[in-house]
Amino acid sequence: MPLTFTTLRPEAVGLFMPPSLPGSGEVHVWPFSLDVPSAVHEQYAAFLSQAEQARAGRFRFPADRRHYVAAHGCLRAILSQYCPSEPQSLVLESMPSGKPRLVCDGRPADIDFNLTHSHGRGAVVVACDRAVGIDLEKLRTEVDCRRLAERYFSAHEQSVVLSATEERLPEMFFRHWVGKEAYLKGTGVGLRMPLDQCEVFLSEDRERAVIRRQGSTIPSEAWMVQYLSLEAEWIGCVAARGDGWTVRVCSDPGLRG
Ligand SMILES: CC(C)(COP(=O)(O)OP(=O)(O)OC[C@H]1O[C@@H](n2cnc3c(N)ncnc32)[C@H](O)[C@@H]1OP(=O)(O)O)[C@@H](O)C(=O)NCCC(=O)NCCS
Repeated sequence: MPLTFTTLRPEAVGLFMPPSLPGSGEVHVWPFSLDVPSAVHEQYAAFLSQAEQARAGRFRFPADRRHYVAAHGCLRAILSQYCPSEPQSLVLESMPSGKPRLVCDGRPADIDFNLTHSHGRGAVVVACDRAVGIDLEKLRTEVDCRRLAERYFSAHEQSVVLSATEERLPEMFFRHWVGKEAYLKGTGVGLRMPLDQCEVFLSEDRERAVIRRQGSTIPSEAWMVQYLSLEAEWIGCVAARGDGWTVRVCSDPGLRG
């Protein structure tokens, strides 16, 4: 059954499942919708810090502003489950790499998290024992997958993507793309690292991948990717350091859609 992007009700904060911290070898993934009723949207907006509100105010298009507010409101609602606190009281800061982190009692919290949002959908990943990243993309047929693969992918990745049938090409391209992005977001490097410096090696069933960073032989630097089973037209994945971890999907047990 594919994961659905549901509304997280702000009034249900404290009731979201699961209430406990991710166990060892477990990463929590929260998929959610950014297209929410106005009353819900207002509650999310009230969770934002002044800096986040100011950033929201700088979006030119109202739809982008609404999505930003919903994404960051949901992020705060979710994180408040792990660091028991009001969503609006949480302190978020950027690491030197740019990756956001949570601060509790003046110190970096014991959880790592990452947010992704795209075309009205969002997701957050949370883990306790490892660094994590997440990425979500809408499968778009207007994207010139061949040209982008030739420009940004390694020789190995190009050989896999460009040998796919025309019908499968977008899916194969986006699997590699989100795998790289999730990894780069997990490490905090973002897109500052040239995209062909880290390679995605898809498993045969295309449900997982291994990341290899060029020039690295240190086993502790190994990262795995787990693809999420999402609604049609969406590709998303989690990247986390090490192997032997599994994804647990979390949601508001109430509203749907
Ligand atoms: C971070 C980045 C990979 C985001 O990719 P994206 O696919 O456009 O967006 P996503 O929705 O998946 O993720 C965005 C979220 O990731 C998080 N994020 C931001 N910077 C991040 C980083 N360095 N590492 C991990 N996560 C990051 C934020 O929560 C962000 O949400 P926001 O943009 O609403 O604040 C990309 O914007 C990037 O590489 N930025 C770095 C830019 C940079 O290096 N600038 C030069 C500075 S010297």
